[in-house]
Amino acid sequence: MTEINNDNDWQFAGIADGYEKYLAPVLSKWTDAMFEKTELSEGEDVLDFACGTGIVTRRLADSVDTPGTVVGLDVEPAMLEVARTTASSLPINVQWYEANAEQMPFSDESFDVAYCQQGLQFMDNPTDALTEAHRVLRPGGRLAVGVWSKLDDSPHYAALTAALEKFAPQQAAAAMRAPFDALSSPDKLRRCIESAGFEEVQTEAITHQVSYPSAEEFFRREVVSWLADPVGDLSESSRHAIVTMLERSLERHINDGTLQAPMKALIAWGMKS
Ligand SMILES: C[S@@+](CC[C@H](N)C(=O)[O-])C[C@H]1O[C@@H](n2cnc3c(N)ncnc32)[C@H](O)[C@@H]1O
Repeated sequence: MTEINNDNDWQFAGIADGYEKYLAPVLSKWTDAMFEKTELSEGEDVLDFACGTGIVTRRLADSVDTPGTVVGLDVEPAMLEVARTTASSLPINVQWYEANAEQMPFSDESFDVAYCQQGLQFMDNPTDALTEAHRVLRPGGRLAVGVWSKLDDSPHYAALTAALEKFAPQQAAAAMRAPFDALSSPDKLRRCIESAGFEEVQTEAITHQVSYPSAEEFFRREVVSWLADPVGDLSESSRHAIVTMLERSLERHINDGTLQAPMKALIAWGMKS
């Protein structure tokens, strides 16, 4: 695993390490809500699909003493490599699978609970992945997922998208916008889950405050966590212009240099009858 040792670095070897260091801790603010909605019991078999660097499985180890089989699945080998390394010290044993969630390599009725935190909105066909989750759950099995609410519900990301639109290659703003567009309405999310066969589907919008040492550091963390490709080669002056625009547009969220802003996610849950 490549460590990011220098907190001033804008360039580094791979985004999975940046993701694990900076983004996974932010996302994990919403993990407890998924656990609460599914009421996991000892001995139950758990699937975390689109597991990334494995933050949900690590939080699982804190919340249930003896789960049954715990499986993390992701399509991206670099994310799984970080997941494997960080999970090696866990008190639970996690099995990792490199696979597309839209075609899961598991038999029917293999799990009691399935989670997908901030993964569905990146998939080509999220309904196919949910249909697969439904297939691999046992009758009575529970599903909980999380996706971002719409872009304007997270002002720092809305501001960053606007700044990228102005000063970065077009695909940077598009990459930033996409995960906030895909499933960000509660009705759309609920219908998508119901169309995969789940019942008693409910959604809840949950807002947490997220904080960064500065607007510049927020931007840098996004670059080294997932925007490296479209933004990594930006000139110093373009980066400076983006940071200046961020500082202006986020003024009311910046206090003594620290950026603190609300971020809204939708949690949805349902069951297989
Ligand atoms: C924002 S990350 C979320 C990771 C993790 N669930 C978390 O909460 O930190 C999105 C993840 O979805 C994975 N992903 C996207 N499409 C996928 C697919 N079709 N099948 C499996 N994983 C997928 C990506 O590789 C990435 O690791």
